[in-house]
Amino acid sequence: MKSSSSLGASTIIVIILAGVALLAGGWLIAQTTPSLFPPQASAEAQQVDALFQFMLVLGGFVFLLVQALLVYSIVRFRARPDDMTDGTPMHGNTTLEIVWTAIPAVVVFVIAVYSYQVWVSTRAPKDDEMVVHVQGQRFNWAFTYSVPGDLVPGDAQLSTAIQEDLTDDNQFTITSNELHTYVGRPVKMEINADDVNHAFWVPSMRIKQDALVGRTTEVRFTPTLADTYPVVCAELCGAGHGAMAAIIVVHENEEAFQTWLNGELQTVFYPPEDPVARGEQVLASNTYPCSGCHALEALGWTAQVGPNLTGVGDRAQRRVPGQSAWQYMHESIQYPGNYLVPGYGNVMPAIWGPGGTMSPEDLDAIVSFLCAQTATGESACPEVGAQETAMAGE
Ligand code: CUA
Repeated sequence: MKSSSSLGASTIIVIILAGVALLAGGWLIAQTTPSLFPPQASAEAQQVDALFQFMLVLGGFVFLLVQALLVYSIVRFRARPDDMTDGTPMHGNTTLEIVWTAIPAVVVFVIAVYSYQVWVSTRAPKDDEMVVHVQGQRFNWAFTYSVPGDLVPGDAQLSTAIQEDLTDDNQFTITSNELHTYVGRPVKMEINADDVNHAFWVPSMRIKQDALVGRTTEVRFTPTLADTYPVVCAELCGAGHGAMAAIIVVHENEEAFQTWLNGELQTVFYPPEDPVARGEQVLASNTYPCSGCHALEALGWTAQVGPNLTGVGDRAQRRVPGQSAWQYMHESIQYPGNYLVPGYGNVMPAIWGPGGTMSPEDLDAIVSFLCAQTATGESACPEVGAQETAMAGE
C-alpha cells in the first residue's frame, strides 16, 4: 500500500478533478432544490436561503462523495465467486482519522459563524418597525396592531368618528387574523400563546418562532414582494392544529395600504344597517377566531373542530325546548359551556365577558347572520326585527 507521501502526480490530478466534480454536483443540488420553495417574500428570506444553499453545496458534496466511494468499493472490492478467504485485516490510520475529524470541524465552525451572522442580522431591530402582537389560540392566530389615526384623508366625517377610538399617541387599533402591511415596512412580531404552545410559521417570509404560554417571543421580517401569504401553526396543538391558519397581506406600497385601511375603517365605523349583512361582514373579517374551528359554507370555512354552522339556523330553533334560535345562539356564543353539541367538548375560548373582546352589537349581528343560515334562507329568528327595535329604544 502506498503512503500518502508517495502519491503520484496523476493521482493528485484525479483527486483534484474528483473534488471539482463533487463540488459541481453539490452546487447543482443547491441550485435545483430551492426551486421547490415558496417565493422569497422578505429580505430575511434571501439571507436564510443563501445560508441554506451554502449548506446544500457542502451537503451535496459529502453526499456525492460517500455515494461514489460506496459504489466504487462495491465494484472494486467485491468477493470473486471462488474467493472464500477473509478480508485483509485493517487497523486504525491516525493520519486519516485526524484528517476526517479536522475537516468537518472546520466546516461546522464556518457554518456556525455564517448562521450566527444571519441570525443576528435578521433579529436586529430595524428603523420604523410596525409592531404586531400575535396571539396564538386553539385554533386561530390573532394579530393586534396600531395604524396611524390620521391616515384617513378626504373623509372628514370618518376622521371625526375615528377620533374617539384613538389611543393617546393618535393610533387606531386593529384586531384580526389577517395582517396587512406593505413592501419595505419592517414588521416586528411579539408572539404569545393563550392555552398551549404553538409555532408561528410564515414559509414565504422564512420565519418560524415558537409561541409560548407565559413568555413573549419575537421575530422580524421586512416584506419585499406584494401578495397574500399563508401563516401556519408548526407545533401540534390539538385537533384543529392543521386548520390553525391566518394570512399576511403585503400591499404594493404605503398608498395601497392606506387605500385598504380607509375601506376597512369605513366598514368598522359605518357598518351595514342590515344586521344580517353586518354579521356576515364581522364574521368574514375574522375579528373573532370562529373560522379556526367551525365550518360554514356561506363564508367558505371548512374547519371541523367545533360544530358545523352550515344550516345552523334550522337546528338552533329546536335545540333547547323553550328557547328560540335567537336566545340559544346568544347563550351558546356568550357561554359556550352551557350547551354542548353532542360529540364536541367544551373547548371554545372565551370571546365574551372577561377575557373576551366581543361587543354586544357584534354579538347581535353575528347571531342575526347565523339565524339566516337555513335551508330556505329564511331567518330562524323572526323576532330579530323586534329585538333591533327594542335595542334601538334602550
Ligand atoms: Cu397551534 Cu398547532
